[in-house]
Amino acid sequence: MPKQKILKFPQGFLWGASTSAYQIEGGNANDWSEWEKSEVRIKELKAKGKNPADYICGRACDSYNRYEEDLDLVKNLNCGAYRMGLEWSRVEPEEDKFDMAEIEHYKKVLQAAKARNLKIVLTLWHWTNPVWLAQSEGWANKKAVEYFARYTELVVRELGEEVDYWVTLNEPMVHIGNGYLTAKFSPNKKNIWQALKAYNNLIKAHQASYEIIHKKFSKTKAGLTMLANFFEPAHKWNPVEIIFAKLANHCWNERFVRKLKNKFDFLGLDYYFHYRIVWYPPFVKNKNEKITDMGWEIYPRGIKQVLKNYGKFKRPLYIMENGIADADDNQRVEFITEHLKYVCQAIREGVDVHGYFYWSLLDNFEWAEGYWPKFGLYAVDRKTFKRTARPSAKVYAEICKSNEVRVD
Ligand code: BGC
Repeated sequence: MPKQKILKFPQGFLWGASTSAYQIEGGNANDWSEWEKSEVRIKELKAKGKNPADYICGRACDSYNRYEEDLDLVKNLNCGAYRMGLEWSRVEPEEDKFDMAEIEHYKKVLQAAKARNLKIVLTLWHWTNPVWLAQSEGWANKKAVEYFARYTELVVRELGEEVDYWVTLNEPMVHIGNGYLTAKFSPNKKNIWQALKAYNNLIKAHQASYEIIHKKFSKTKAGLTMLANFFEPAHKWNPVEIIFAKLANHCWNERFVRKLKNKFDFLGLDYYFHYRIVWYPPFVKNKNEKITDMGWEIYPRGIKQVLKNYGKFKRPLYIMENGIADADDNQRVEFITEHLKYVCQAIREGVDVHGYFYWSLLDNFEWAEGYWPKFGLYAVDRKTFKRTARPSAKVYAEICKSNEVRVD
């Protein structure tokens, strides 16, 4: 057998697991839960031969009630940090009416995390909106900036002491693309003007939120996450492919961040996708030598490329999401270790990477795909909500504990 190499991570490297509120809590009422029940969504699913009932978030993982157990699972992974989300629609179910009982609930969750000595990465917005906001044009409404600022103020005041890292927005580009251009996600629109308005408002919302967080906690760390895609020309010598890849990288990965005018203390990168760009339609031709259950190409080298690319922003970088839908758990260990190998290479080549968070702690509600994709280190029984560690959880726990990864 070939000898395995041991790759060490820098001291203090932050190991974590990620979740989001809507995908795990259960019992939420927001624009997504409304969209799931809407006529267009049901028609669309039936046309694809799918049962709409399988695409309702409903009780999710029941983490709203089982958060203590979930935090224990994070501890069992030997993680130093947990990335979790707040559900804006819970906190502000009606415009300008905050539900303080829900704030108390989140305080308990955060304190339970602190009691376990976990650092908290708190996401303020992970794609879902309160219904009242969605009914008044969602992010396309310029008042959304003010609304988000007001929500941030309250969260900072009530929960700020417990938070170590703030993620204002999760992957704004995905909300724009899937919500306003391809109509795959709520708000289910194909409207470029609304997309542009939402884009600009999200930029302003991040900036406002960042200022509010820093006004109260000058030393805290606030940033956002980007879906960091690796675009590369299929042929290194083809100028058209080179230009297309650069353009895609600029529009998808960088432009939004540049517009933030340095108002971020770190960048959270979520790496899942590689695009091999060709000059002819449909402009992407991946080799797909290995794929996940969802048919997504597995391309670990890309994580190093996106880290190097975002390195130009001169801020600490965190991989805030990287994970695989793999129900049989027969690819997950290789997936994690190969990606970590390239993270390690990026660090050795001088990129300032401070942490890695696996997506996801649990099998959860995978948005428009419903429950069938299994991203979890822990499987969740859909009837009993019982959590069961997959074999890969043990390997990840060993990596987090030893701060090193073994690769072939
Ligand atoms: C999102 C998660 C999602 C994951 C897998 C990320 O882009 O932030 O919410 O579950 O991708 O699709």
